[in-house]
Amino acid sequence: MQDTLETALPLSDLYRRVERHIPPFEWPILAPDIARILALKGQRNAVILAHNYQTPDIFHTVADIVGDSLALAREAARTDKPVIVLAGVHFMAETAKLLNPEKTVLIPDLEAGCSLASSITGADVRLLRQSHPGVPIVSYVNTSAAVKAESDVCCTSGNAKKIVEALGAKTVIMLPDEYLARNTAKETTVEIIAWKGRCEVHERFSAEDIREFRARYPGILILAHPECPPEVVAECDFAGSTAAMAGYVGKHRPARVVLLTECSMSDNVALQHPDLEFVRPCNLCPHMKRITLSNIRRALERMEHKVEIEPQIAARARAAVERMLALG
Ligand code: 13P
Ligand code: SF4
Repeated sequence: MQDTLETALPLSDLYRRVERHIPPFEWPILAPDIARILALKGQRNAVILAHNYQTPDIFHTVADIVGDSLALAREAARTDKPVIVLAGVHFMAETAKLLNPEKTVLIPDLEAGCSLASSITGADVRLLRQSHPGVPIVSYVNTSAAVKAESDVCCTSGNAKKIVEALGAKTVIMLPDEYLARNTAKETTVEIIAWKGRCEVHERFSAEDIREFRARYPGILILAHPECPPEVVAECDFAGSTAAMAGYVGKHRPARVVLLTECSMSDNVALQHPDLEFVRPCNLCPHMKRITLSNIRRALERMEHKVEIEPQIAARARAAVERMLALG
């Protein structure tokens, strides 16, 4: 799911979107950055793509497009704006650049990484290919361009099963998230060889947490991201990408719900559904949290930090991302 947000609203209207999350005394601190970002977006002819894990002040006020990794990649491929600001982590900005080599793609903090992306290198993938000749390699979009370049196709949490099955192979290598690979393997007859990468946010959830939620909050609906351990996914009520979880809440409107994922996601979805009760355990992604209103403002003022990818890597990495978009 992805959503287009109207940002040409007076600041007071924007505040109404977040007033249940941001207290009135905090708004005057945020409003000047928001006003400046909205003005700079017009001057630079820029679009801001924001991931579902961005904080509500970014997600509900300055973002033009919000969504999961798949939606952000699709929108990056579609936009006609010459400047893209990626409010998310580095692999997301790289994916946007791969799909828009001629455009300027800015990431407000170059250090916004990902424990999955840093768990594997291009050299590791070459070794894997050597040890499993002829087995196609599916790389999760949470990887560097160098890893994508060594892969046959990419996938996201929103299309992993579809991509694995579309290859028509008996066995595939799926990297680097061991849990996403094992969770996908349960849904398909394709044999999946996994890597040992983990998301530092989702690996912290346990099946014990789920039992505690059920005991403490009767009737609660439990949704989980497929980067969670398989025993968590086995005991939850629904597992899906960040967009799939938001869509599930909108469709089923559970009276009480918990999202086992990064905590800003619950804040953002809760603001859209004031009548539902969200139980909110908080596992923060420190990489996503590096993006702030003030560094988005600075990115647009200084046109920094420009994402660049070595052309030889970019051509092969782009092919893997484009193949995913074509298949999915
Ligand atoms: P989604 O593609 O589901 O938004 O997930 C991205 C991510 O980084 C989850 O941790
Ligand atoms: Fe990476 Fe996990 Fe953060 Fe997502 S939540 S960006 S997978 S570390």
